Amino acid sequence: MVSPALSLRDLRVTFRGSSGPVAAVNGVTLDAYPGQVLAVVGESGSGKSATALASIGLLPESATVDGSVLIEGADLNAMSEKRRVALRGSTIAMVFQDALASLNPFRTIGRQISDAYRLHHHVDRATARKRAVEVLGRVGIREPQRRVDDYPHEFSGGMRQRAMIAMAIVNEPAILIADEPTTALDVTVQRQVLDLLTGLTDDLGMALVLITHDLGVVAETADRIAVMYAGRIVESGSVLDIFDRPAHPYTRALLQATPNLEAPGRLAAIPGVPASGTNLPGGCPFHPRCAFAAAVGDACRTQRPPLDPRPGSDQHRAACHYTAERELPHD
Ligand SMILES: Nc1ncnc2c1ncn2[C@@H]1O[C@H](COP(=O)(O)OP(=O)(O)OP(=O)(O)O)[C@@H](O)[C@H]1O
Ligand code: SF4
Ligand SMILES: [Mg+2]
Repeated sequence: MVSPALSLRDLRVTFRGSSGPVAAVNGVTLDAYPGQVLAVVGESGSGKSATALASIGLLPESATVDGSVLIEGADLNAMSEKRRVALRGSTIAMVFQDALASLNPFRTIGRQISDAYRLHHHVDRATARKRAVEVLGRVGIREPQRRVDDYPHEFSGGMRQRAMIAMAIVNEPAILIADEPTTALDVTVQRQVLDLLTGLTDDLGMALVLITHDLGVVAETADRIAVMYAGRIVESGSVLDIFDRPAHPYTRALLQATPNLEAPGRLAAIPGVPASGTNLPGGCPFHPRCAFAAAVGDACRTQRPPLDPRPGSDQHRAACHYTAERELPHD
């Protein structure tokens, strides 16, 4: 049996906010496997980026982390800072949510990629530059030999995103976390970048954790899906589990709010206000918005539903008192 490349176990992240603690991640358990795309989907503020930053050990000082992050079996939170730095960028890499803004405008693209390479390889500048050309070609930049000396402003938005991906994969990481990698791009370029990421997942055997708002992107690319709400995974499973037999009212509401899965678009609004990390409702955090809570009674308000296996599928899990007993009714 294949071991996961990345495992999170009961991960919790709390920020020290200006008006009190913010419970951003509240007990996330998930596994990402080599050669597979795990899509993490959920509304804004559901804790996707905080989960990602905790996975690579890059949360700000204002955050406290509990639970474990296992990278190829090694616990990130138990290892020395030196070991953490060595793993970051080599075994686990990330394309950040604000990737396009995080390129240094005063350094050539090639220099930025070769610096990322030299952090983990003792090679001279010429060798690292050659590697930068090679990896720019790999991410689909035409004439990489010439473009390697361009500055970021000489690249289009799509090319800059490819350059960020090149920087992230230059050391062939076992795990790549891509946080909303296509949000700032137009639809055609979005598709090309997704094809690139899934191609790299296959070729390099990486575990890709793809964070997105976009159910169209998920449907096209994911092997497995984790749906987040209020810092928790409320449902996880294969693409068929989630799209054909959703077992959580929140997942159902997301799917119903998305008019056309073939045409990528951000999550449409579902009624009610998303739960906030400063004031999490007790019991199931979705209960103030849930159309099924009334049929269950007190448990939804008082007891946190566990993420339990669903019958008929070895991967499918859902955290809901209602669907632990029965199926969601057909529309
Ligand atoms: N540095 C921080 N300090 C205080 N609170 C934070 C910080 N970063 C995130 N948060 C809070 O933690 C919660 C989760 O934020 P996070 O950025 O992980 O959400 P997200 O799911 O990535 O949202 P989006 O889809 O908008 O990127 C939110 O309530 C957010 O306001
Ligand atoms: S546990 Fe209750 S409130 Fe939460 S999703 Fe299920 S039915 Fe709705
Ligand atoms: Mg985010």
